[in-house]
Amino acid sequence: MKLDRKEILKALETITIAGEGKNMVESGAVANVITFGDEVVVDLVLHTPAMHIKKRAEDDIRKTIHELVSPEAKIKVNIKVETPEKNEIKGRAIPGIKNIIAVASGKGGVGKSTVTANLAVTLAKMGFAVGILDADIYGPSMPIMFDVENEKPISITVDGKSKMKPVESYEIKILSIGFFTAPSQAVIWRGPMAAKALNQMIFDADWGELDFMLIDLPPGTGDIHLSIMQSLPITGAVVVSTPQAVALADAKKGVAMFMQDNINVPVLGIIENMAYFTPEELPDNKYYIFGQEGAKNLAEDLDVPFLGEVPIVQSIREAGDYGRPAALQTASLIETVFEEITRNVVQEVVNRNDSLPVTEAIKITTMAGCSAVKKN
Ligand SMILES: Nc1ncnc2c1ncn2[C@@H]1O[C@H](COP(=O)(O)OP(=O)(O)OP(=O)(O)O)[C@@H](O)[C@H]1O
Ligand SMILES: [Mg+2]
Repeated sequence: MKLDRKEILKALETITIAGEGKNMVESGAVANVITFGDEVVVDLVLHTPAMHIKKRAEDDIRKTIHELVSPEAKIKVNIKVETPEKNEIKGRAIPGIKNIIAVASGKGGVGKSTVTANLAVTLAKMGFAVGILDADIYGPSMPIMFDVENEKPISITVDGKSKMKPVESYEIKILSIGFFTAPSQAVIWRGPMAAKALNQMIFDADWGELDFMLIDLPPGTGDIHLSIMQSLPITGAVVVSTPQAVALADAKKGVAMFMQDNINVPVLGIIENMAYFTPEELPDNKYYIFGQEGAKNLAEDLDVPFLGEVPIVQSIREAGDYGRPAALQTASLIETVFEEITRNVVQEVVNRNDSLPVTEAIKITTMAGCSAVKKN
């Protein structure tokens, strides 16, 4: 049995917590709902430590989900009590966007964009509202991967201001530097121009309400990475690596960049891509072409979570070229692989948001070529 997140939210809308006028979804008390098959985890934030209210809220959630969604649902309710002062510290830099995840790698060509696209569609399937910001100024690939190469974002007016409307494909909102340039031109997007374009795609765009914004970063650890971390409060970073020694060495640099004292972006974990080759018709045959468990060991060494492994399968490459992320294929190996990885990512985001304050956009005072993004 597979629980539907949207149905659960709808059911929760019938519950009101004592002392709050609105239902628990509208009042913001439901911080998160995650479904894993027949399990559902509801994260609740209450403004009162009163035991009877907590107990009542939990009982109501169980009863309502069993009655309105499924009597077999396995329900876990996490309750966090937050005082109003604490809430004020948790400011959000971009209204409406709850979590921003940067996907990085160090080495090029290891599958960042592939992972970004498949994570995005899997999150959307779980019921989250998702956007992708393709920040790869050297080789933007989202327009091709989502089959929107020939589309252009239109300009709309919101509250008297002109804003860019992201292009939508498979329920994902997308903005890419590729929408504004011919592929052969990509190389001129350097320094201030690229930074300015990115800045506009972030702040002058109508992203609406998003649970997750994924940022597909260009390879490496250069200026553009700094300028993005400078302008955005990144919730966390996901680092992609293949098991090869060269890729692992670069992944290590990538992790180090996020952990640097003046950057301080939490690393949500490492994903191993191209972990092994598997013929789709013989999924039990695994060939470890690039070596075994390199990224897993790296994660252990660096003390960051290991989020999972993606095998090399022909359909991933074909789907990318064809413009329909492979994880959309129901009942496929890749759907299952990405469901597991995405669950791990969401869980790490939840852990991170529970344990750390919101990342502040860092203030770097001088940086060659990126003055256009300087914040405040
Ligand atoms: N698990 C996989 N199985 C098969 N092919 C894959 C897999 N992951 C990525 N590829 C293919 O490898 C190529 C590189 O992947 P991708 O573009 O996602 O890498 P990248 O890290 O974003 O590269 P860049 O550094 O250029 O941005 C693409 O053709 C993609 O389809
Ligand atoms: Mg890429």
